[in-house]
This record gives sequence, C-alpha cells and structure tokens, in this order.
Amino acid sequence: MENKELISRTSEFVRTTLAGAEGGHDWWHTFRVFNMARRMAETENADPLVTSLAALLHDIADAKFHGGDETIGPKIARDFLHSLGVDENIIRHVILIMTHISFRDGYNAGEFHSPELAVVQDADRLDAMGAIGIARAFNYGGYKNREMYNPEIAPDPAMDRKAYMKSKAPTINHFYEKLLLLRDRMNTKSGKAMAMHRHQVMLNFLEEFYGEWEGHL
Ligand code: ADP
Ligand code: NI
Repeated sequence: MENKELISRTSEFVRTTLAGAEGGHDWWHTFRVFNMARRMAETENADPLVTSLAALLHDIADAKFHGGDETIGPKIARDFLHSLGVDENIIRHVILIMTHISFRDGYNAGEFHSPELAVVQDADRLDAMGAIGIARAFNYGGYKNREMYNPEIAPDPAMDRKAYMKSKAPTINHFYEKLLLLRDRMNTKSGKAMAMHRHQVMLNFLEEFYGEWEGHL
C-alpha cells in the first residue's frame, strides 16, 4: 500500500474509533496534532510516514479513559497497522512513540529518543497550550465535574505521577501542575518558538481570570 493510502486509512480508522470521545481528546485533537507534526517533520528531518502514523494513533485509547490501562492503545495500533501490512520496523517505532509521548513519562524520560518522537510529542504538547489548551483544560474539567477555581486549594507543581493521576483539583491548578511547565519541555526549535507564544497566551488569560475573580477588571 502507498504511504498516502496508509495514512488515509489510518485517519478513517482513528476518526471512527474516537467518535463520541471527550471534546479535548477527540478526533479534532488528533487532527491538529497530525497537521502540526507533519509540518514540523519537514524542518526537523523526521520520517513523514512514522510521524503521521504515530500522530494519528497517539490517543487511540488514552489510559485515562480505560481504567489506567496503558497497554490497550499500543495493542489496538499494532493490530491495526499489522492488518494494513505495515512494515514491522515502522510498527515498532510507532508503538515506541505511543508509549513515550505522555507528559507523565517525563518523570522517567530518557529510554527512547527519535526525531519522530520529538516532533509528535511537541505537537501534542502545543495542543495543550495557548487558546486551544485553555479550552481543552476547561472542557476536561467540566467533563470530570471539577471546580474551575478554588482559591483555598493550592496547586502542587511537584506532584508525583500517582498523585497527578488521582488529582481532583480545580482546573486552574492544572495550569501550574502541567500546562505552564510545557514551554521548558519542548524538544525542537520550531516547537519552542510556538510554545513561547502559547505560554504567554495562558499567562495573559490567568491574569485576566484573577482580575475578574477579584472584581478588579
Ligand atoms: P498526556 O496524556 O499527554 O499527559 P493528558 O491526556 O493528560 O496529556 O491531557 C490531555 C488534555 O486534557 C490536555 O489539554 C490537558 O490539559 C487536559 N487535562 C488533563 N488532565 C487535566 C486536568 N486535571 N484538568 C484539566 N485539564 C486536564
Ligand atoms: Ni494527545
């Protein structure tokens, strides 16, 4: 099968599988990450096929929505790519990207690196920042019925992995526990430049939010 055909079949598969997913983790998140990663792959010398397949499949079965099981996504991806007859080395690389992309793995990062992982991870992180990142955070918070903000619950940016997974903190805390940390975790030059802008958008938003909360603005 031609690369173009592999990519369009994978898009269709992911779009169908993610129908009805929570708004911040839906097909459109995947689509944005896919477009961003493909664009970045050109400047970062990443293989376009591996980048595209990994970007498309990276959230096929997020562990958060599968009782914490992190093996389901890679298994679905492997079976699907296998059914298309994709080369075993490419499948293996896509699976490695899927298992190393998560923010949570930042806590024990370092076992695997590739230009394709760098690009897909940056694209995924960028989508958690800026205006879209803000929208996704509040969408997720609403989905989980979290408070938007509670001045009595302080954020904990040093949370360990277990605490992060269990946290029921207000959505504003998520900015300090994750979103504002992303700028300094970007892998690529083009990713860093976009992250600077999106970071500032979030800071401006928070300033406005507190100003309105306290009635100053
Ligand atoms: P990753 O899997 O890369 O660690 P997540 O799946 O946790 O990232 O996050 C995906 C999206 O959901 C992001 O936009 C993120 O901000 C949002 N999100 C995740 N956890 C929370 C939370 N506790 N509060 C608000 N938004 C969240
Ligand atoms: Ni994602």
